[in-house]
Amino acid sequence: MCGIVGYVGKNNGVPVVMEGLQRLEYRGYDSCGIALLNGGGIELEKVTGKVSELMQTIAPRQMKSGVAIGHTRWATHGMPSRANAHPHISQDGKIAVVHNGIIENYKVLRDELENTGYIFSSETDTEVLAALICQAYSGNLEHAVREALSYVVGAYGLAIIHADEPEKIVCTRKGAPLIMAVGEDEYFVASDVAAILKYSKNVIYLENDEIGVITRDGIKTYSSDDEQISKKIHKITFKLEEVEKSGYEHFMLKEIFSQPQTIYDAMRGRLLPEEGNAHLGGIDHMTGAILHADQRYFTACGTSWHAALIGEMMFEQFARLPCEVEYASEFRYREPLVDAKSIVFAISQSGETADTLAAIQEAKQRDAKVLGICNVVGSSIARETEAGVYIHAGPEIGVASTKAFTSQVTVLSLLTLKLARLMGMSQENGKAICQSLQKLPENVEWVLKQADQIAEIAKLYSDASNFLYLGRGVNFPVALEGALKLKEISYIHAEGYPAAEMKHGPIALIDESMPIVAIAPQDKTYDKLISNIEEVKARKGRVIALATQGDERIKDIADHVLYVPPALSFTAPILNVIPLQLLSYYIAVERGCNVDQPRNLAKSVTVE
Ligand code: AGP
Ligand code: GLU
Repeated sequence: MCGIVGYVGKNNGVPVVMEGLQRLEYRGYDSCGIALLNGGGIELEKVTGKVSELMQTIAPRQMKSGVAIGHTRWATHGMPSRANAHPHISQDGKIAVVHNGIIENYKVLRDELENTGYIFSSETDTEVLAALICQAYSGNLEHAVREALSYVVGAYGLAIIHADEPEKIVCTRKGAPLIMAVGEDEYFVASDVAAILKYSKNVIYLENDEIGVITRDGIKTYSSDDEQISKKIHKITFKLEEVEKSGYEHFMLKEIFSQPQTIYDAMRGRLLPEEGNAHLGGIDHMTGAILHADQRYFTACGTSWHAALIGEMMFEQFARLPCEVEYASEFRYREPLVDAKSIVFAISQSGETADTLAAIQEAKQRDAKVLGICNVVGSSIARETEAGVYIHAGPEIGVASTKAFTSQVTVLSLLTLKLARLMGMSQENGKAICQSLQKLPENVEWVLKQADQIAEIAKLYSDASNFLYLGRGVNFPVALEGALKLKEISYIHAEGYPAAEMKHGPIALIDESMPIVAIAPQDKTYDKLISNIEEVKARKGRVIALATQGDERIKDIADHVLYVPPALSFTAPILNVIPLQLLSYYIAVERGCNVDQPRNLAKSVTVE
């Protein structure tokens, strides 16, 4: 699930692979390793821990080779340990394999291989691949890989080398991302473009079951039927600086502060203020199908699922179109009422989330039209869906999603506006929404100016063990998102609730040690929320309130107040989430947590 980098070319591939692994660190991992071909055989090094430790370990050895593969592992089968780290070497010492994903039938395969006398040296599912390829090998690595994979059920991105074919990497994928890239007399394979962007912007996307064979002479690709095929080379448009920290202490902070720009980018060329409407080139032709569908679903995971909840509320409130939101992981298994008259929107930052991809497959099998709302251009979800919209947030490196969320909600606002106009919303109302969207970047700047104040509040609460986030209407998903951000990066237990639900249970938890974040803008639920805050205060809870600029009343009740500019319910979630992102960030920094790479998490979850 984590990171793969490989190099074949005229230069020493070791520093290229190591640098690539460092660029993939943001995805979260627990151990790493590198293997290279040195003429005589395979040289290997692996460590539990960071790529910097791997660098220190290999430094004295001065490893050098024109063919190298490396990996950062996010353990699924077997503890993080040196033995379980990748690359995995076959019993004969000739094959090295790096793998992202899960081999689901590994246990059966492992038992069978052990019965034939094969001795395993790790607990991983991956090692069965090394064993199967070893058994299938008779002089041609790609043939052996093809045969080995015919026994395998599961998901994989793979890069493999063989000591007897010293100028070659074979790579393939199924359900996990993998790209190849073309440089000048050098070629690359990686699970994420960020790893090799410094060296090449010319990328080839491998499809499921295709095999890439990379040698010093170039790249050959074979279809799932083993026919040689020619693949298009895509030009990557984002720059290396976009995957660097640009002076910020963490990627997450950089990404939070980039939101005035990224929100603007999500709307660029799409907002029609004069007409009070929006234009979304990727799905304009599908609006009829969306309007006339029997069922509309949003499916997603994590933060993208929170964006979907806001999408659902906006669709229903403004476009009067009923729809449902499903966790992608549940969608697949609950026999959804989906058929050819259904529309399914899949929302995903990475475009590689395995649960979301599986939900898409399920919907497609039932003949539904599936549309994507993705960030990563050319990602699997972008390619698997019939049509879609990119959110154009640029590479998101922090594992905790921030700018992608606000861009997703921005795009959902544009889509809602478009549908609402078709459903009869007046041009005047459309124009008011356009104005509020146009003002968003400026309003986000305004909110970001409170970062220092939020950092001070964070100091007072960094020792909390629990947090409760309360919000109503479109701010309920914002409360969920605020709580998720805090959990992810500070490891403080936090829950989001619709504010009125508090009295139906969670109120039992409230005492002086339970901080509450109350999202209380001056909208139609304001008075009710004030009552909820009173209920918390009566039980000695400490309250951080998020309120509309100019609201003095709330100062008398809450312990701390953070202000956001007045906003329509269209744009409110986007503004309200920003102080919550900052609060989580500063609390995590205060607690000394690894903000960009929180424990146990991975940036894109490519296993189901
Ligand atoms: C967000 O902070 C999380 N790391 C996670 O919940 C994420 O949103 C989820 O895994 C979905 O990812 P995707 O948007 O790339 O599909
Ligand atoms: N399933 C493999 C393992 O546990 C690969 C994990 C990964 O994707 O990093 O080693």
